[in-house]
Amino acid sequence: MSDMTAAEPDELLAEALLDPEGRADPYPLYAALRERAPAFRTAQGPVVVARYADCEWVLRDPRFGNGTARPWERHGRTEAEWHERFPGYARNRRALLFLDPPDHTRVRRLVAKAFTSRTVERLRPDIVRLTDEVLDRFDRTVDVISDLALALPITVIGQMLGVPESDRDELQPLVRASLAALDPGATLDELDVALGARDVVSERMEGLIAERRAHPTDDLLSHLVHVEEAGDKLTLDELVSTIAQLFAAGFETTTNLIGNGLLALLDHPDQMARLRADPSLLGTAVEEMLRWDSPVQVDSRRPLVEGDVHGMRVRPGETVFTLLGAANRDPRIFSDPDHFDVGRDGPAPLSFGSGIHYCLGAALARAEGQVVFDRLLTRFPVIEPAWTDGTRPVVRPSPVLRGRASLLVHCA
Ligand code: HEM
Repeated sequence: MSDMTAAEPDELLAEALLDPEGRADPYPLYAALRERAPAFRTAQGPVVVARYADCEWVLRDPRFGNGTARPWERHGRTEAEWHERFPGYARNRRALLFLDPPDHTRVRRLVAKAFTSRTVERLRPDIVRLTDEVLDRFDRTVDVISDLALALPITVIGQMLGVPESDRDELQPLVRASLAALDPGATLDELDVALGARDVVSERMEGLIAERRAHPTDDLLSHLVHVEEAGDKLTLDELVSTIAQLFAAGFETTTNLIGNGLLALLDHPDQMARLRADPSLLGTAVEEMLRWDSPVQVDSRRPLVEGDVHGMRVRPGETVFTLLGAANRDPRIFSDPDHFDVGRDGPAPLSFGSGIHYCLGAALARAEGQVVFDRLLTRFPVIEPAWTDGTRPVVRPSPVLRGRASLLVHCA
């Protein structure tokens, strides 16, 4: 690891997000950035902010948006060349995450009702049943990632949307592959694979849309098809990309909430015991897991007009990266931030973002996390790491999404 007192901000950032050793525990590197370079311009051009207040401000301020990305510039291509190489690019950008108002406002209103806390509470018994079905198959040694954390979120969002089980298994590796497009450093070859996978997911969603047009049911897909058919509220491209994004957004992130959260409990047996003894802490425990080891480490916005970020001039077309993992350990906001405390009360972490793009699935993800940890701790009096010092679970190589490839535990 580099000498943190001497390293340049660029080096600290690369170590925290890209270097396997740094990624194992990026939090001291984030702390160095937060104190010494709370806002800086990287050698590649984008600006990076690390403190909670700056991240929150950038994410919330209407002078920043998501819709003006120009990835072709970073790759030395023209816009026309980009669209020729990635024919599905433009239509797949019509999803919530990439839209600015007024389109964002219109589309978000159409889907928001399906994800309110009240709607999610009605789903909770189903989530408990699905979790128990997965846990029924648990043997003494299990990989929590593949056997629980991946399976549950995809089943829940698949059922809500109405994506049949047979398709979910086929789509899961494709969605995973498509997420590599979120990596700001992805090469053109990597984008070929990631965006190609995204196109296949979209094609499958188009197939499901056609099926629901012919035979509507009471799932979310049928509802959105009906909205699209009813007139000028939702275009076909928006329908396809929104459904594909809803399906994808839900599972790698929630998978990592479950995996990172369980790892935090295993690393802090006193906190696991405390949660077992007092299940009323499940709500704050899940918030703390989100804060402690955020499934999304980096978010971003693009200035719509020229302005200042922590004293740095930013212009339209540029990108500002917000380091959520660093913001969540900011001592200006969280007391004793490097202490994992399942009873912590206070400000919400920035793990679900902030502002108009605040995670649509936050209530769903929280409910899934609470149910999973409740059922795990209730059903298994013993949950222990099945690794030794040399084989600690490693972090998957994505700078944006933080999670482990596998997490082997003994349950009894
Ligand atoms: C622990 C799990 C999750 C985490 C950490 C997470 C994180 C995030 C973050 C950070 C954003 C904001 C992006 C931005 O500011 O630009 C976001 C947006 C979004 N999330 Fe999640 N998410 C999770 C689960 C889910 C689930 C279960 C769904 C299911 C539908 C979902 C759907 C979405 C959608 C549709 C957006 C875009 C919202 C918009 O642009 O208006 N997420 N999520």
